[in-house]
Parts: sequence; C-alpha cells; structure tokens
Amino acid sequence: MIFYQKYLLILPFERVQFIFLRSSISYCLKITTLAVFGVPIKDKPRSFELHPFETNFIYQTIDMTSIAIFASGGGSNAISIIKHLAGQASFVVLSNKKDAAVLQKIKDYDVEGLHFTRKDFYESDKILALLHERKVEWIVLAGFLWLVPENLLEAYPQRILNIHPSLLPKYGGRGMFGKNVHSAVIEAGESESGLSIHYVNSEYDKGQILLQARCPVIEGDTADSLAARVLQLEHFYYPRVLEFVLSKPS
Ligand code: GRF
Repeated sequence: MIFYQKYLLILPFERVQFIFLRSSISYCLKITTLAVFGVPIKDKPRSFELHPFETNFIYQTIDMTSIAIFASGGGSNAISIIKHLAGQASFVVLSNKKDAAVLQKIKDYDVEGLHFTRKDFYESDKILALLHERKVEWIVLAGFLWLVPENLLEAYPQRILNIHPSLLPKYGGRGMFGKNVHSAVIEAGESESGLSIHYVNSEYDKGQILLQARCPVIEGDTADSLAARVLQLEHFYYPRVLEFVLSKPS
C-alpha cells in the first residue's frame, strides 16, 4: 500500500472515518483521508473530536518499545497505560514527588519507579542520561505539572505526550490542573467538558492536539464528580492514543 501513514479509525454509529495524522507531502501524497462507509474528512485535521464510547482504534503491530511515564499524583492513568501496553512496552515511572502514590502502585506491575529533584530536571542532563540508558523512545506525562525542559524536548521531538482534563484551549495553561480545571468549567456554566491528548512543547497545554473526547457537565456536578467522569474517559483514551502513535506503518 502506498499510504504508509499512521491513521486512526473512528467508528461513530453512522460512519467510518480514517483520519491521517502527521501528513507530509513526501509521506502520503497529500491524500489524507479515506472513507470506507461514510463521510470523508478532507485534508489533514490536526485535531478532532470523538464521541466517547463509540470509538475503536485500528492500529498496527508495535515493536517492543520503552516508555517513560512522568507522574506525580495518584497514577491512575499511568496504571491504565501500563496495563494496556503490557507485553508491548517496558516502563520506567519518574516522579518529582518522593511519596507520590503512583510510585507505590507501579510496584504491583513490577515497574521501576524513580524520584528526581527540580535540580535534576532543570539544571542537569541526569534525566536525559537515565532515559538513554533505558533506551526510552517515548515520554508520557500523566499527572505531571512541570514544564518539560529544552533538553528533553530536543531529544524527543513529537515523542512527548500529555493528557489534560479539559477541551483545550479552554481551561488550560499555568495553574490549570486538578480540581482547578473542573471548578472553572462548572463556574463558567459549560454544558460539556472532556479531555485533550496532545504533544508537549515548551508551553503549558499548547502542543498539537491529537485527540479530544467530550462528556456532559451534569446539573449539580461538583469538581469531583466531573473529574471522575473525565478520568473515566482518560483511562479509555490515553492508552489507546498512545498505542496508536506507537504503531508502525505496515
Ligand atoms: C488527570 O486528570 C490528567 O488529565 C491530569 O492529571 C490527572 C492525573 O490523574 N494531567 P492520575 O494521577 O493519572 O490519576
């Protein structure tokens, strides 16, 4: 096949759409969309939205790879990724919080966990060396709040992903994390929220969006109830989007 482009297959009820990502002239002859049963999407979308729970991803074989997960919180996304990609990737989890719950949880999965300091991260190449030693090919941020320094961005171009619990660009940026995001969504009277999975660049929540999935904001929602609804989506989509970007063209 000439279309050696990575793609995502979306299966809403009425249609099937192939959406090609990362189109480049040399790579895919500018034909970025193929519709099998339904409405084609013309030209490469840089971001798109899905209706949750009506989606399947078709991906190709993944060679064994090595992933570093940066996390400093509960680690539920880290665990959903580790479980989903078991056998397809090895993992190391890095945290800037010594007592982060994620460092405990990963022990059940026999995954290495390491703590690092701000100095390690911003004023040395220690993290980079550690990633190279473990032949890390992808970096996944999952509940990690620090901006990624230039040395890592340079070493991993378009290979660092983050998940944010809102429909970016809304409710993103410095200070927009955890409950702050969901409270702001509720206070603004939004009728829906969701998640954004995006590549990471030097700014908070500004990298190219790979996928957004939405869910309703329900009357009476609190930041906690909305967070729980969004988190459910996160556990479904993050591992699958990751699997998709890791998948090799055949
Ligand atoms: C998630 O809501 C994620 O979107 C955000 O931080 C939270 C991490 O949750 N970046 P967990 O630690 O994976 O449970």
